[in-house]
Amino acid sequence: MTDIAREVASRRTFAIISHPDAGKTTLTEKLLYFSGAIQSAGTVKGKKGGKFAASDWMEIEKQRGISVASSVMQFEYRDHMVNLLDTPGHQDFSEDTYRVLTAVDSALMVIDAAKGVEEQTIKLLNVCRLRNTPIVTFMNKYDREVRDNLELLDEVENVLKIRCAPVTWPIGMGKTFRGVYHILRDEVIIFTPGQGPLDEVEIIKGLDNPRLDELFPLEIGNTRMELELVQGASHPFDLDDFLAGTLTPVFFGSAINNFGVREILNALVDWAPPPGERDATVRAVNPNEEKFSAFVFKIQANMDPKHRDRIAFLRVCSGRFERGMKFKHLRLGRDIAANSVVTFMAQGREQIEEAFAGDIIGLPNHGNIQIGDSFSEGEVLSFTGIPYFAPELFRVVRIKNPLKLKQLQKGLQQLGEEGAVQVFKPLNGGDLILGAVGVLQFEVVASRLLNEYGVEAIFESTSIYTARWVTCDDARMLADFEKNLVNNLSRDAADSLAYLASSRVNLELIQERWPKLQFHATREHA
Ligand code: G4P
Repeated sequence: MTDIAREVASRRTFAIISHPDAGKTTLTEKLLYFSGAIQSAGTVKGKKGGKFAASDWMEIEKQRGISVASSVMQFEYRDHMVNLLDTPGHQDFSEDTYRVLTAVDSALMVIDAAKGVEEQTIKLLNVCRLRNTPIVTFMNKYDREVRDNLELLDEVENVLKIRCAPVTWPIGMGKTFRGVYHILRDEVIIFTPGQGPLDEVEIIKGLDNPRLDELFPLEIGNTRMELELVQGASHPFDLDDFLAGTLTPVFFGSAINNFGVREILNALVDWAPPPGERDATVRAVNPNEEKFSAFVFKIQANMDPKHRDRIAFLRVCSGRFERGMKFKHLRLGRDIAANSVVTFMAQGREQIEEAFAGDIIGLPNHGNIQIGDSFSEGEVLSFTGIPYFAPELFRVVRIKNPLKLKQLQKGLQQLGEEGAVQVFKPLNGGDLILGAVGVLQFEVVASRLLNEYGVEAIFESTSIYTARWVTCDDARMLADFEKNLVNNLSRDAADSLAYLASSRVNLELIQERWPKLQFHATREHA
């Protein structure tokens, strides 16, 4: 095995997904605590859930240095290098979330066991399914009154359409939560709230052990009965099915009490896949190749408002990144000397020395880099599968002070490249049009325009129904189309041509009239 192959094999890159309030932030913190990356829980000052209004979000963004440190985190556990990526909880940021999920090899799904499968979980799972991402499930909050265990599994299977393989099984709940039975190891792990990673865990071997009847006479009978039912009704854990994304190992616990956290870390290290091959335009790229390659899945601007810097988050796909090396920004054909590339740890960013496939590295830049951009040591390739979605909501942008037009254009260009919102420039020179998936995006953009670019913008509603990116092999026909429909056409931040339709009927009509043109609901990187 080469050095690179060894490093790659030790990498685990996963996203943590949940409906707001299920316990994602708490569990993230506990994973860091149990890995030794932080010394005590309560150190990661991340964002609080997703129940925020736009104003809270803004407040959070003011502390961007901190929240970014907690959106990508690297830590070591059992000789493995683990990269944990947070996903925005609010549905209005589903595009951003989608792109985060393109950068991971597995996902950890947290479910509030009192509530079961919630709306945002369904959406996130659908996104994971597009890439067959393997999912580990954590049923949280067993220190509370929760729903029936079997019913919960049933709901996951039926609503999320993924088979469940319980690996642990809870004994009791709420005030009588006693611990979990580890089905694969045939042992009971006793619930002791607040144990740290170094504390000794009390374990009782065998489900039939009479000691369990002594300790938990009221609960253990029910647990044995449930387990019999489970054995009939659910599925045994199967690694191949898990890796294919069709079966999820399920763990039960209480993140706030540090219970069940170690089992999750072990599952990720033991079962979750290391980085695999990635598709690019010309060929698939193997993570063990010697040459470095990477793509951008996220850009965060103005992390430090004083410096106006932007960080592009790159997922390394192959080779070895070394500090100071040169690599090529393929879209611009420009060399980049990577002296200030950073990595993200629990408590901030650090200069990075080296990185391998699966790692996330941060490249500070002053613009130019866009989501979806690829980097290599020279070979021309472009990683695929990092889409933009056709927006569902549109606004026309006007400004109060016409002298600020330049700042507005610059601000929107940058926010567009960052993926915060989609920006369309009408071919006929009319007002800029913004497109979003969620309405909160507009509020965020308005506030950032004001705070970061000093522009007071007004967003007005418009009758646009949807957008479709238009391509055609026949340049003359495309030119003809542009001429005929100039009032309905725009270019986005990546200069791609888009048709803005006023209704579904209008879109269908245009598609019928121009049968040789392709109308795309998603756009991959230009
Ligand atoms: P999120 O990132 O998924 O939105 O969830 P977060 O971790 O912020 O947790 C949401 C709420 O659920 C928090 O309570 C948190 O303390 C609580 N929580 C997380 N894990 C558990 C658990 O295992 N058991 C119980 N009982 N509660 C849990 P909060 O009241 O909103 O905030 P806080 O004031 O407690 O911080």
